[in-house]
Amino acid sequence: MNQNKKFLTFKSEFNKFLSLQIPDSNEICHQAIKYAISNGGKRIRAYLLFILGKHFGISKNNLNILGASVELIHAYSLVHDDLPCMDDDVLRRGKLTCHKKYNEAQALLVGDALQSLSFELLSSNKLKIDPKLKIECINLLASSIGAQGMVLGQSLDMIYENKKPTKKIIEKIHKKKTGMLISACILIPSVISQQTNSIHKNLIILGENLGLLYQMVDDYLDAISDVEKLGKNPGKDFQRKKATYFSLYGKEKLLNVIDTTKDEIDKISLKLKLPNEFNFLINSVYDRIK
Ligand code: IPE
Ligand code: IPE
Ligand code: MG
Ligand code: MG
Ligand code: MG
Repeated sequence: MNQNKKFLTFKSEFNKFLSLQIPDSNEICHQAIKYAISNGGKRIRAYLLFILGKHFGISKNNLNILGASVELIHAYSLVHDDLPCMDDDVLRRGKLTCHKKYNEAQALLVGDALQSLSFELLSSNKLKIDPKLKIECINLLASSIGAQGMVLGQSLDMIYENKKPTKKIIEKIHKKKTGMLISACILIPSVISQQTNSIHKNLIILGENLGLLYQMVDDYLDAISDVEKLGKNPGKDFQRKKATYFSLYGKEKLLNVIDTTKDEIDKISLKLKLPNEFNFLINSVYDRIK
């Protein structure tokens, strides 16, 4: 099976699994949760976790649970990110944002519920791993998305609208708001399969670079791409004067930095002998700029 087909097969199986984790009823709360999670995300984070997890010998059942946990968190972050008090967006994944489809109060609650659901799943008996490792995973995910991770990044992202922060601050915002959840997708498989310190350290650097690459590509596309390709309205970062890599570097230099970051990722991948699926995933992230 070619790599693209593998990814599509993964996505369709994973989406089925994910939808089974969502409460199914006519409650508006449940309908809104379903709307936010089953609306065509790329599932890059889950696939990343799958590729690393499979490489390190973790079972498919466990990877489904872990993948669902990170996608639930990611979906929560997007629902809140789109709210009028944050980026104020009306389009997400080619459809109305959750607060536009429902309302602000329901969207806020959807985010809250998605976050709880993620940890409910992760801490449940469905995840069949050593309890000590399970606690380590919960700790890793929680610390990646909280006050020292994604939430801090999102807070800084809002604070630095209309300002011209230094490169160091922009890098911090991006590492926190996007990088740490992506890193968690790489580090959770490492923790569960108890990789050596040396491999784990390399994976930390890999995650940091991939997080940066991911947000740089997102920033680039916001400036360059169109609504059909993105499924969200472009030009929003410029409109809101966000501190992005595009605003820092401009188009040409940003493309150079994207290339350098991708080279760094390829080097680590080669060093760790990561599978072809990983290289395919990195290339598909990178190729979004083409
Ligand atoms: C968008 O993430 C927000 C960022 C952190 C850049 P994705 O581009 O992965 O969004 P989906 O899940 O595919 O919609
Ligand atoms: C969102 O970054 C990061 C998180 C949701 C944590 P962006 O605000 O750039 O994401 P998009 O462009 O709206 O998808
Ligand atoms: Mg944002
Ligand atoms: Mg946004
Ligand atoms: Mg963006």
